[in-house]
Amino acid sequence: MQLNKKSKIFIAGHIGMVGSSIVRHFKKKGYKNLILINRKNLDLIDQKKTYLFIKKKKPDFVIIAAAKVGGISVNSEQKAKFIYENIMIQTNLIHSSFLAGVKKLIFLGSSCIYPKHSKQPIKEEYLMTGKLEETNDAYSVAKIAGFKMCESYNKQYKTNYICLMPTNLYGPNDNYNLKTSHFFPALIAKTHLAIKKNLKMIKIWGDGTPKRELMYVDDLADACEFFLKKKTKHSLINIGSGEEKSILGYYKFIAKKLNVNLKISFDKKKPNGTLRKKLDSSLAKKYGWKSKYNLSKGFDLTYKDYIKKVNS
Ligand SMILES: NC(=O)c1ccc[n+]([C@@H]2O[C@H](COP(=O)([O-])OP(=O)(O)OC[C@H]3O[C@@H](n4cnc5c(N)ncnc54)[C@H](OP(=O)(O)O)[C@@H]3O)[C@@H](O)[C@H]2O)c1
Repeated sequence: MQLNKKSKIFIAGHIGMVGSSIVRHFKKKGYKNLILINRKNLDLIDQKKTYLFIKKKKPDFVIIAAAKVGGISVNSEQKAKFIYENIMIQTNLIHSSFLAGVKKLIFLGSSCIYPKHSKQPIKEEYLMTGKLEETNDAYSVAKIAGFKMCESYNKQYKTNYICLMPTNLYGPNDNYNLKTSHFFPALIAKTHLAIKKNLKMIKIWGDGTPKRELMYVDDLADACEFFLKKKTKHSLINIGSGEEKSILGYYKFIAKKLNVNLKISFDKKKPNGTLRKKLDSSLAKKYGWKSKYNLSKGFDLTYKDYIKKVNS
């Protein structure tokens, strides 16, 4: 079935940063039949309830944006939760979709699941060619299982379940809790709080040297629509922006944007994580997709949303 404005599209995890961006995007494009349900009404860890929901709703397409997600600290402190919840959520959604006859599904991986010392930029074929980053190995194993499940169902059952592999993301609805957030929202929140409290210093986790590729979340939402429409031979497709800086470089970018000059101290007791993870997104480009937002525009939209939240 071709994607059209009346297609029934189940977006799992629609309240999260990625899920809410996908909902905004699909609504703006005029899709009329989005299937949405929150965790209170359907815990995706519950296999039977997940299956019964999908069987009843009979979606034409499924996008999996539900997952247990977090930054380096929570990922390394809650490995059991990260592996259990992610395996359960994705397995329930993928298998139930298959049982309900869903032919096309998007599962989201993450650039952090590639090998720790991968060649750069990272091509899709480098997955599972080396040791994983220790701080998020449990999360990575779960995500790799999700991708392999999609690939295996495609081979055995002739489905078209694809795994989009996004780089680090930021945008409206991000998590700014300093204990559980990713590095970029944490830098935004710390800089903002330093200005508000008139502090002279900012503390950055690690030594500031690791490089990260960053993409505005609405670009991923656009990629989800693009690849639901597209017939693809590949089960794994990198989705990156090409925008890369060091952690320190991103802080300097934010400080310039917010017109502040803070002393920087590095908390070297905190882990650096992988030193570099830049995606090679040439496969996505070959299919005809590329990111549209630059960092400056994405940051302005994100910061506006952050300020609205902290002031509400
Ligand atoms: N953020 C990034 O930088 C990034 C980068 C690459 C890939 N990704 C991928 O993008 C996807 C979404 O990430 P995100 O940043 O949007 O995370 P998020 O903001 O934490 O959103 C996750 C969503 O999943 C829902 N969820 C979690 N467990 C659930 C359960 N048991 N039952 C029902 N719903 C559940 C959450 O519901 P509640 O609202 O109730 O908690 C939330 O709506 C993930 O697969 C992640 O790996 C994210």
